[in-house]
Amino acid sequence: MTINATVKEAGFKPASRISTIGVSEILKIGARANAMKREGKPVIILGAGEPDFDTPDHVKEAAATAIQRGETKYTALDGTPEVKKAIREKFQRENGLAYELDEITVATGAKQILFNAMMASINPGDEVIIPTPYWTSYSDIVQICEGKPVLIACDASSGFRLTSDKLEAAITPRTRWVLLNSPSNPSGAAYSAADYRPLLDVLLKRPQVWLLVDDMYEHIVYDGFRFVTPAQLEPGLKARTLTVNGVSKAYSMTGWRIGYAGGPRELIKAMAVVQSQATSCPSSVSQAASVAALNGPQEFLEERTASFQRRRDLVVNGLNAIDGLDCRVPEGAFYTFSGCEGVLGKVTPAGKRIETDTDFCAYLLEDAHVAVVPGSAFGLSPYFRISYATSEAELTEALTRIAAACARLS
Ligand SMILES: Cc1ncc(COP(=O)(O)O)c(C=O)c1O
Repeated sequence: MTINATVKEAGFKPASRISTIGVSEILKIGARANAMKREGKPVIILGAGEPDFDTPDHVKEAAATAIQRGETKYTALDGTPEVKKAIREKFQRENGLAYELDEITVATGAKQILFNAMMASINPGDEVIIPTPYWTSYSDIVQICEGKPVLIACDASSGFRLTSDKLEAAITPRTRWVLLNSPSNPSGAAYSAADYRPLLDVLLKRPQVWLLVDDMYEHIVYDGFRFVTPAQLEPGLKARTLTVNGVSKAYSMTGWRIGYAGGPRELIKAMAVVQSQATSCPSSVSQAASVAALNGPQEFLEERTASFQRRRDLVVNGLNAIDGLDCRVPEGAFYTFSGCEGVLGKVTPAGKRIETDTDFCAYLLEDAHVAVVPGSAFGLSPYFRISYATSEAELTEALTRIAAACARLS
């Protein structure tokens, strides 16, 4: 018997810890949209989770210099002293948060930070409270770590934000973490100091519950919104808060894969144990680039945010002008999360009834050649997400097509 035959007969069975996790809806839509493009259809894809700006030149130059200096080997396990110092400065300068170097960790993207944190802290069956709509990875990572995601619907009526009564009701003796993201992917909603306060008051009374905040979109906020982070607002929670951030979105560095966090050193140490057996360390060159991003000029962030704000306004106004759609104005990030309840029950020209947001997004893709992601992929329906990190011309064309497609429904 050949080795191949043995393998075939044995078959492959995925581990139970990933058996409930499917291929992401976002990837499926992207694959379908790209296949249509290859067939020559003029598809506009509004699904990307990354800024359309380039990585700044001074960051690229720092990386090139690092390569020339020979910084091409393994580094310290959870970040070089240089990048940790740059992160310490960033937390102090922008968030008024004081972390020692051993309270800071650096990983291959904020995604790995989340993974390390959950892997290092969750025992099977531990509960993690996640408000929806959520970034899909939160719940998948918790499940891979054999925890139990406890999803709490937070719809447009509450500004897509968790409220203290919902939080209080969700906490059980098994609750290990609450996971908050501001500004949010996918809703763009952000928590002000006043929004956070009641949640922090609940957590102060529940010392077994830890707080993970994902501040990834910190720099992309609009209309003068004042970004705040919980460990800064409530020092009483700092000893059980992990403040997660990264260079991906602010500095258009998604491909460099650097994320970081500040938190209590016992947790940081445990996360390093996970990382040591997963990746050994983040990329040496990307860490050098991140030092330049964090220590370098920050003024361009404002210009980029102003450009995103123009596009946000274009998309929100365009969507709200369409009968059946209802889009809340997001405070930040580069996504809109629009309600589409008004189109449910309608019938497409091909005679198909639109029952769900997934049906609506499929219709937009097939009929209008616009790829957007249904709210169901983010745990809350009936909504759909648009990423407006693309040109104004493309956004205008997409909105025209969406409006025309909606007008064709009966
Ligand atoms: C809310 C949120 N957090 C974290 C990440 C991951 O970022 P990174 O590129 O650092 O892994 C993303 C990426 O889409 C995100 O939307």
